[in-house]
Amino acid sequence: MSVRKIIKYPEKVLREKTLQVSDCDSEVQKLIDDMIETMYAAPGVGLAANQIGISKQVTVIDVSARDEKSSLIVLVNPEIVHSEGEMEAEEGCLSIPDYTTVLKRALKVCVKGFDRHGKPVELEAEGLLARALQHEIDHLNGILFVDRMGRIKKEFFKKRYARMKE
Ligand code: NI
Repeated sequence: MSVRKIIKYPEKVLREKTLQVSDCDSEVQKLIDDMIETMYAAPGVGLAANQIGISKQVTVIDVSARDEKSSLIVLVNPEIVHSEGEMEAEEGCLSIPDYTTVLKRALKVCVKGFDRHGKPVELEAEGLLARALQHEIDHLNGILFVDRMGRIKKEFFKKRYARMKE
């Protein structure tokens, strides 16, 4: 296992839709192990494969607090099949360091996909986990959380981020 470099905004690869995984082979197993290690090292609560430059529909999530038991989730080819309610909360991203914003997301989601061994899984989630699932599945579709902000907030972000990077 190794910690991989996290790709940062505004790199183009973050905007590209990732490819479906057709076989959970040893290459995918190694990718998943590296993603888990990279997420915990960051530290972050989720990571999508394209954040380390790999165009595959793979995400790892662990929203448990540090003193809690780990609740690691690995999802291959995940998709949201149902969502309901609304919740506003602060959100950030490992690919956009030092920036967070309050964002509206669905309160509950139902996600279908596969585990790391290719076994079908269905997951119902609420609150922070539901938010993380929506954030990571967005990543796999080439969408960043800043894309979901309103127009004025977006302009403000772009200016602020350009200044920060100088
Ligand atoms: Ni992110």
